[in-house]
Amino acid sequence: MSDLRVCVSDFEKEARRILPKAVYDYYRSGANEQSTLADNEAAFNRWHLVPRVLRDVSTVDLSVSVLGQRLSMPLCVAATAMQRMAHPEGETATAKACRAAGTAMMLSSWATSTIEDVMTAMTVSTGNEGVLWMQLYIYKDRELTLSLVRRAEKVGYKAIFVTVDTPYLGRRWDDMRNRFKLPPHLNMPNFSTASLAFSEGNYGNDSGLAVYVAKAIDPTICWDDITWLKKHTHLPVIVKGILNGEDAVQALKFGADGILVSNHGARQLDGVPATLDVLEEVVTVVQGRCDVYMDGGIRRGTDVLKALALGAKAVFIGRPVLWGLACQGEIGVTELLELLKEELRLAMALSGCRSISEVTRSLVRRVEFTSRM
Ligand SMILES: Cc1cc2nc3c(=O)[nH]c(=O)nc-3n(C[C@H](O)[C@H](O)[C@H](O)COP(=O)(O)O)c2cc1C
Repeated sequence: MSDLRVCVSDFEKEARRILPKAVYDYYRSGANEQSTLADNEAAFNRWHLVPRVLRDVSTVDLSVSVLGQRLSMPLCVAATAMQRMAHPEGETATAKACRAAGTAMMLSSWATSTIEDVMTAMTVSTGNEGVLWMQLYIYKDRELTLSLVRRAEKVGYKAIFVTVDTPYLGRRWDDMRNRFKLPPHLNMPNFSTASLAFSEGNYGNDSGLAVYVAKAIDPTICWDDITWLKKHTHLPVIVKGILNGEDAVQALKFGADGILVSNHGARQLDGVPATLDVLEEVVTVVQGRCDVYMDGGIRRGTDVLKALALGAKAVFIGRPVLWGLACQGEIGVTELLELLKEELRLAMALSGCRSISEVTRSLVRRVEFTSRM
């Protein structure tokens, strides 16, 4: 009998006991010394919530509209690669859990399930509806890249999140030491050759994924490629991986339909700011011209609330979902999403917010640093 899971870190502890070391390391790691990895979470402690009282919080409405879709809460699932390493049903289990929770899932280009199968899992049977978005890496082979977009469009994905922070893979020391690659029974089935499906077998003495990225992903991508992508899809294009106001302005100039403030879960360039610390700069520059989302380090309902107060329209979680999957597949992810939803509901009620529109900048205050004499 597993222990009762009352917070996200309980899921992680249990997942760590269950997963093979190399898999847990791949999911958990950040780049290099992992200073940004720690800071992504620590940043939330630099903000206090300043609640209002006596506001009749007997009902709290968490629902929100994101990219034209009504979601039960402003918390969505970020793209995380290779989910079948966590559980045999992988991404399809996550999709079912998102549907049950009434929220959206962003499917990784590096999924271990097909684009079509994940959509089937998201739509089969009745119940609450969920939404699927496609995360896109731009490959050197542009036709291949567009084929992913077309397949996603064809089966009903509602947006493309193009990841712009990965011209090369960050140095993740554990993966290098583990010579990380997929276990032999798995591959990335959205690609037809063994080389692109990450199932070649021999990646030498390095992280297999770093070798894969160097071979396949296009390091020449630049702003014109946002224009290129928009020309080839009718879906909204959201730029994933913005960390400052200047690039937010560029994203708007090149037609982005949304911005996801993200440092890739601290897995790319170590030493960049925590995403919460740059969120407000981006929101201020964007001035409502498109939605701004954020991810990185969100582990509790109060984290979600703080990000919303600083201007995020919705937020995403990456690793916690993998812990839920590892613990108990679809049931585990459902339980995890319910837990975070409940934490958010309570945090809103105790802050005096009855709906998302009542979550405003005045709800948070930066913690003052006071030096001791
Ligand atoms: C194991 C793992 C795999 C990831 N795979 C992808 C991916 O395939 N594409 C992508 O754009 N981002 C990927 N990310 C980044 C997430 O989309 C997201 O930005 C990040 O996980 C958010 O931080 P959090 O894990 O602290 O919630 C991955 C993150 C993790 C932890």
